[in-house]
Amino acid sequence: MVKDILKHKILVIDFGSQYSQLIARRVRELGVYCEILPYNSSLTSIKAYSPQGIILSGGPETVKKKGAPKVPKGLFHLNIPILGICYGMQLIAEEFGGKVELATKREFGHASLNIFKSSYLFKGIKKRSIDVWMSHGDHVSKLPKGFKIAGKTTNSPIAALFHPTKKIFGLQFHPEVTHTSQGKRILKNFVKDICQCKGLWNSKNIISRSINEIRDAVGKDEVLLGLSGGVDSAVVAALLSKAIGKQLTCVFVDNGLLRLNEGDQVMETFKKKFGIKVKRVNAGNYFLKDLKGKIDPEDKRKAIGKTFIDIFLKEARKNKKIKWLAQGTIYPDVIESAGKEKSAAHVIKSHHNVGGLPDYLNLPVIEPLKDLFKDEVRKIGLELGLPHEILFRHPFPGPGLGVRILGEVKKEYIRILQLADDIFIKELISGGLYDKVSQAFAVFLPVKSVGVVGDSRRYKYVIALRAVETIDFMTANSATLPHAFLERISNRIINEIPEISRVTYDISSKPPATIEWE
Ligand code: XMP
Repeated sequence: MVKDILKHKILVIDFGSQYSQLIARRVRELGVYCEILPYNSSLTSIKAYSPQGIILSGGPETVKKKGAPKVPKGLFHLNIPILGICYGMQLIAEEFGGKVELATKREFGHASLNIFKSSYLFKGIKKRSIDVWMSHGDHVSKLPKGFKIAGKTTNSPIAALFHPTKKIFGLQFHPEVTHTSQGKRILKNFVKDICQCKGLWNSKNIISRSINEIRDAVGKDEVLLGLSGGVDSAVVAALLSKAIGKQLTCVFVDNGLLRLNEGDQVMETFKKKFGIKVKRVNAGNYFLKDLKGKIDPEDKRKAIGKTFIDIFLKEARKNKKIKWLAQGTIYPDVIESAGKEKSAAHVIKSHHNVGGLPDYLNLPVIEPLKDLFKDEVRKIGLELGLPHEILFRHPFPGPGLGVRILGEVKKEYIRILQLADDIFIKELISGGLYDKVSQAFAVFLPVKSVGVVGDSRRYKYVIALRAVETIDFMTANSATLPHAFLERISNRIINEIPEISRVTYDISSKPPATIEWE
């Protein structure tokens, strides 16, 4: 019998803070399930969710502004413990008759919190002064009635407050970020002690719950999964294989635009090690044919996306027993696509793997990772026995090397790029730098430059190396790799690949550049 691991849960109400997802991840790291709902959710939906505790996130607005986001009416009367962080604390102050002072200047970065009143939130913290991370404009200037101040900083005389009987707490600083030295302890006090949540949310329990759900949903039907070699589809494959064994069929479309030997590795892992039915479709030539003559990045992306769908569907339709399509959607995709519905954002690049497949196949979709954050996906992947190389691999774009060869894609260029990329990645791994950067790869530039190798002139192509550090891939900095390390890679690439005469290192940040070159 699987325990009801969602019985104890926390709800984050999101007011638009960049840290909202981080709060939820921190709660889950404590072993307690946590979801995020937007601030304009109805009180009925919040009650239906029946959380043991509620966290009000920070946000970019000012509580005093007309039309500023507010909590659903009646939230403070649900008799559920509430923790307000930053904007969330200002909402508490407003609601209970305190005063919020508008910012004349922002307080951003480290501050020292002086804890002078014991609040349940600070239980077990021996030091009277701890480092905290601030990121706010407005602050609470008058305590609401019945509340007490638990801590202050130089710039915020009311940096932590609580109500002695109502179980309502406010923090001006961010306990969810690692810069707040006792942040984890503070959140643990709230979640485990104040809200009395038990820690049932762990890899083993998540897996058994998921297996039960999959079995209940699909019964004796067969399920199709598109394997890409990436983390998410790999974990879905391992999970489904454990749940329904031979009822799972995977299709792996090798588009010929993968990293060196990647196709073979995927087959080796899933077919040989896991005994999963994987159909590999070697379609490199189709993709090359469709890319012929295309030099515009968007045309190339669209061609690759369309060919992928055509081939995948052709394979899928061959097996009439298939009644379900599995997908590796994860929780941030769910939150973001909900948020994007009304977005007027410009399309910078069309990512072909977003949306798409289900409609074409007219099959119901099964998404076993849709409640999980990426770090949780990796943890359950480890528990299921997937290799570290697959789980901790840098992200790789759907159109693959197709967008790392500038201009027209040719078979010769793919081979050269695969070799150069392989040298770079293997050197990063052996130098202990692979896990220190967020993403690294080589780019093929179809321009020629002069070099001299031995006594002869070499007039050949250029390789650019790119390595970035980023948290969310929305913004990124070029990684500062040791110069001697870059020189060694450059020498190896030029010496070992006769078609290359020059290697450069890309130092552009995002924005204004993007991570991929196309
Ligand atoms: P950009 O180049 O937009 O990339 O800064 C941000 C991140 O997204 C990856 N990327 C893709 N991933 N399909 C994907 O699955 C795509 O078409 C695609 N294009 C870019 C990129 O590698 C980086 O991690």
